[in-house]
Amino acid sequence: MPESHKFVCLDDYEKHASTVLPRNALDYYASGAGREHTLKLNRNAFKVLRIRPRMMRNVSKREMSTTVLGNCVSVPFGIAPTAMQRMAHQDGECATARAAGMMGTIFTLSTLSTSSIEEVAEAAPSTIKWFQLYIYKDRAVTEDLVRRAEKAGFKALVLTVDAPMFGIRDADIRNKFSLPPHLMLANFRGVFADSVQSSGGSGINEYVKNMFDASLTWNDVKWLKSITSLPIVVKGILTAEDAVMAVDSGVDAIQVSNHGARQLDCTPAPIEVLPEIVHAVNDRCEIYLDGGVREGIDVFKALALGAKMVFIGRPAIWGLAASGQEGVKEVLDILKCEFDHAMALSGCAKLGDIQRDMVVPDTQYCKL
Ligand code: FNR
Ligand code: LAC
Repeated sequence: MPESHKFVCLDDYEKHASTVLPRNALDYYASGAGREHTLKLNRNAFKVLRIRPRMMRNVSKREMSTTVLGNCVSVPFGIAPTAMQRMAHQDGECATARAAGMMGTIFTLSTLSTSSIEEVAEAAPSTIKWFQLYIYKDRAVTEDLVRRAEKAGFKALVLTVDAPMFGIRDADIRNKFSLPPHLMLANFRGVFADSVQSSGGSGINEYVKNMFDASLTWNDVKWLKSITSLPIVVKGILTAEDAVMAVDSGVDAIQVSNHGARQLDCTPAPIEVLPEIVHAVNDRCEIYLDGGVREGIDVFKALALGAKMVFIGRPAIWGLAASGQEGVKEVLDILKCEFDHAMALSGCAKLGDIQRDMVVPDTQYCKL
């Protein structure tokens, strides 16, 4: 198992990445919005949860596979969409997708990727692939992406609903972030592909402001459903009210997420709002979570509070920066090993044994 790896935990990969990545790329990947209150909270909100472990429950054999939108995955965690991965490693999204496949889990490709839908499909034919969708002002652009994802065998569309514009990320403004000249947004041609270029501020924010449709409403989910039969995951929900709107619009799953704390600062951490969303949805669709997952015990906590699956964003990029496909696979291996320990040491032989009452806030103990 991970004994042979150079690094022991996901934080080691983050530290290493901060020493090898070019400044522009590192800042883009690592940053949160504003003063990064929520970026810190995404981690801290996990840390203040306590696990109540059970003993003597025969954990000699453990099973952590599950099904997500009808697809069998070998672990209850997968890879969230993160843009422009070739800044971290020359193989970019193709390497990450292959690593996910080796682990038997899901890879989500960003609309703003530096490897195209077709390249990723060819590089990782047996990986379960989902496509993350941003809706462009020009609907024909979005419709073309949907058709190509369908044709290339992607199994779901992940519609990101928290980005009518991008959050203010100070470092990208200071750096005048631009996509390095040897890279482009590989799903596109012309101005859609090569205009992540600063005209004084953050090049990515300028791109989004020009291209993305900020007028979206829940009616647009109905539009999306009318042009595709792929299942739709809505990503970026943080309240019970919106979760109910999403279910009522006919989505197949909700990804509870604050976009890795990159949009609006001072939103709650996904793990904090998960219980209210699970309660409001009342089993009417699958619920996933991303944001701040850095250890196997975080996966355990999210599952106990009602998530079916969790996704990691930055840790995959840190693995990629260390050693491409192998690095991402190591990150996934470590998470699996840690999650397996969490199951065994809390008395859970199968995912169904991870019960709601096994996770409590630390205040339950402090108030003694
Ligand atoms: C993202 N995220 C993101 N989400 C999305 O829907 N489309 C995208 O293209 C991107 N791109 C992106 C780039 C980078 C560098 C980061 C860090 C994040 C958000 C991502 O899917 C996920 O919500 C968070 O990354 C989860 O938080 P952690 O795991 O990074 O803490
Ligand atoms: C980001 C995008 C691309 O957070 O979603 O930078």
